[in-house]
Amino acid sequence: MTADPVPDAPPWPVFRGRRRGRRLRGGRARLLAERLPACEIRLDDIAEGADPAELFAAPPRETWLEIGFGAGEHLAWQAARAPDVGFIGCEPWMNGVASLLPRLEQAELARVRILADDARPLLPRLRAASIDRIFVLFPDPWPKRRHAARRVVQHHAVAQFARLLRPGGELRLATDDRGYLRWMLEHMDMSPQFEWLARRAWDWRERPADWPETRYEAKARAAGRLPVFLRYRRRH
Ligand SMILES: C[S@@+](CC[C@H](N)C(=O)[O-])C[C@H]1O[C@@H](n2cnc3c(N)ncnc32)[C@H](O)[C@@H]1O
Repeated sequence: MTADPVPDAPPWPVFRGRRRGRRLRGGRARLLAERLPACEIRLDDIAEGADPAELFAAPPRETWLEIGFGAGEHLAWQAARAPDVGFIGCEPWMNGVASLLPRLEQAELARVRILADDARPLLPRLRAASIDRIFVLFPDPWPKRRHAARRVVQHHAVAQFARLLRPGGELRLATDDRGYLRWMLEHMDMSPQFEWLARRAWDWRERPADWPETRYEAKARAAGRLPVFLRYRRRH
């Protein structure tokens, strides 16, 4: 299979989000120290063109990538329900990584690899057509115009998603920010490699059954912001 050409990406802007929050209490800190080394991946260890399936002891049937898993609710929910899928989760916020780990059973830990860092530099390293699903759920909206370059969704990121997904693979995006929604739709519309899977006008207001609610989404609803759920298929 030939890889689609990826436009020359400008250097990724420096990650500006939080890496640490409240100090981790004893139990969490201990769990992080005990469990993270077994499933952590580091950018420096990922060779150019690496096959993500090889990051797991047993190659999984499918590989799914979640960018910015936050407290890990969605990733852990999916990992519990898809026993033959390998997960790569990227999250630079260490408190989020520490929240994910206790959500995973021992068997699930073996199928999860964590990059506790910015996901963007990882994308061009991975082999083309090697990922079956990509999730970018409620990414930080960076609402000020001058901060727009910090958003995860950019033309070169969409080009990377298209390169990484196998034909027929799925990209899931969610947001509760109207400005970011417009931005996502504009960016995705300009990519001929993706087909938007919405069939009815209200599709994007309804979270699919295989997509759990996170605390972030619940907070958005409580604050009166309506979340939107976008599903795109990588065209053949
Ligand atoms: C608003 S939170 C949403 C968390 C989660 N997806 C959810 O729905 O609950 C956005 C998360 O994306 C993470 N993030 C931001 N930029 C990132 C990047 N470049 N790579 C990986 N994660 C990133 C942040 O640290 C934060 O935890």
